[in-house]
Amino acid sequence: MEATEKNNWYEVCVGLFKKIAGEQYVLLKEEDLKNYDHDETENLHFLPDVVIKPRTAAEISEIMKICNEYKIPVTPRGAGTGLAGGALPHFGGVLISMERFNKILEIDERNLQVTVEPGVITEVLQNAVKEKGLFYPPDPSSRGSCFIGGNISANSGGPKAVKYGVVKDYVLNLQVVLPTGEIIWTGANVLKNSTGYNLTQLIVGSEGTLGIVTKIVLKLLPHPKHDLLMLVPFANLEKAGEAVSAIFRAGFTPSALELVEIDALKIVSKMIGDNVIPVTDDIAAHLIIEVDGNHMETLMSEMEAIGTLLTQYNCGEIFFADDTQQKAALWKLRRRVAEAVKLDGYTIEEDTVVPRAELPALIKGVKALGEQYNFHAVCYGHAGDGNLHIRIKKEGSPYSLNNPEIVPSLKALFTLVKKLGGTISGEHGVGLVQKEYMEVVFDAANLSIMKGIKKVFDPNNILNSGKIFDI
Ligand code: LAC
Ligand code: ZN
Repeated sequence: MEATEKNNWYEVCVGLFKKIAGEQYVLLKEEDLKNYDHDETENLHFLPDVVIKPRTAAEISEIMKICNEYKIPVTPRGAGTGLAGGALPHFGGVLISMERFNKILEIDERNLQVTVEPGVITEVLQNAVKEKGLFYPPDPSSRGSCFIGGNISANSGGPKAVKYGVVKDYVLNLQVVLPTGEIIWTGANVLKNSTGYNLTQLIVGSEGTLGIVTKIVLKLLPHPKHDLLMLVPFANLEKAGEAVSAIFRAGFTPSALELVEIDALKIVSKMIGDNVIPVTDDIAAHLIIEVDGNHMETLMSEMEAIGTLLTQYNCGEIFFADDTQQKAALWKLRRRVAEAVKLDGYTIEEDTVVPRAELPALIKGVKALGEQYNFHAVCYGHAGDGNLHIRIKKEGSPYSLNNPEIVPSLKALFTLVKKLGGTISGEHGVGLVQKEYMEVVFDAANLSIMKGIKKVFDPNNILNSGKIFDI
C-alpha cells in the first residue's frame, strides 16, 4: 500500500481522534506505543504512530471515516496473542485496540446463543456460559488471555475442534465496522441461513482485513457432563501418526486428540518444573486423548476400546488421568508447549494442516526436510485434525521476516503440505509472516478473487493492509 506520510495527517487527525474516543484513550508516547508493537509472533516489532482504545462501534466508525479520508493505515488488535503477525502495525499509522469491548452482552438460554463483544477473553466467555450449563467449545491454547474477537479474525481452533469444530462453526452473526465507516450486521441470529452471500463466514478468518468486528452472536451447546483423559506414549513418531487415523476409522470421535513430540515435552516440562509425564529415552511422542459425553460408562468403555486399538500401533503403557488435578496438569503442559519451545529457540512457527491420514507422511517429510535444509523441528498439535504445529530452530540463523536462509526450507515444507492435499495454516492465519507462501497453495485466479473482495470492502486499502497478501 502507499500509506500517507505521517506528517500529512498526524497533527490534524490526532485532535479528531481525541474528540471521538476521549483524550485518555488516545496514546501517543513511545513508552505506551511499545506495548502494542508486537504480538506473539517470533520477535517482530513495529511501532504504531497512534493507539486508540475506542468503546463503541460508533466511535470506530468515526475513526475509520477519518482514516479512510486521509488514507491512514489502520491495524485492529485483540489481545496480541496471534502467531502470524496479524496484529502487527507494520506500516505504523493507527492501531485500534479492542480491549475496552469487554462485555458479555446477553446469554440467551432459550436459544442457546450468546452475544458478546470482541474484547472478552475466550476463557471468561467459556466460564460464563458454563455457569448456565452451556458450552462454547473452541479453546485455543491461549484461551486464558486471547480475545474472542481475535479468535474470529483467525478462525481459531484448539484441541476440542476435532469433535466440535472451530470458531466458524459457532459464529451466527457479526456486527462489523467497514473500512469506509459503515456499520453492518452480516447475517441473522439463526442456525440456518441461505439468504445471499455468506458475509458472516467471509469475515471469520479474514484477519481484520475486511472490517472491524464490534459485536458477535455465537451458537452454544449444552455442556457435556463428563470427560476422561489418557496419555499414550509411542516409541515411533510416525506410528503415533498412524494410530491417529485408526482411531477415527474404528468409529471413535475423541473430544481431543493431540500429539506432542518428546523434545517439546522435555522443554515444556523443564519450563514448568513439572514432571507429571514420565520422560524416558525410548519414547518419541505422546498422544493425549480425551473423550467427553453425558454417560460415564460409555466413556469408560470407549477409552478402553481406544486403548486396546492403540496396542496394535506399538504404544507404551497408557496413563489415565485420574482426577481433575491430573487432567489440569496434563492440559497445562500441552497448552504451554508453544511458549516453551519459542523460549528454547524454536522461533519459527508453522501451522500446517493435511488430511488426517497423511499425518505420518507429513511427519516423515518434515524430518527429511530438516536434514536437507539443516534445521531442527519439533512437532506438536492437533493430530486428530491433521493440524500439525511445526516449530523450527536453525542454528546461527536468528529469525527475521523473510530471512533468505529460511524461506527456501519453508517453501519446500509448504510444497510438501500442498502435495499431501493440505494447506499452510489450520488455525493461526496467514497474517504477515505466511503471505510470502500463499502462491505455493493458491493459483493466480484464487488470489485475484481474494484481492478483488478486499478492494470491494476497502477501496483505499487502509485496513490491516499487507496482511494475507499484498495488493
Ligand atoms: C497450540 C497453539 C500454538 O496448539 O495453536 O498450542
Ligand atoms: Zn494449536
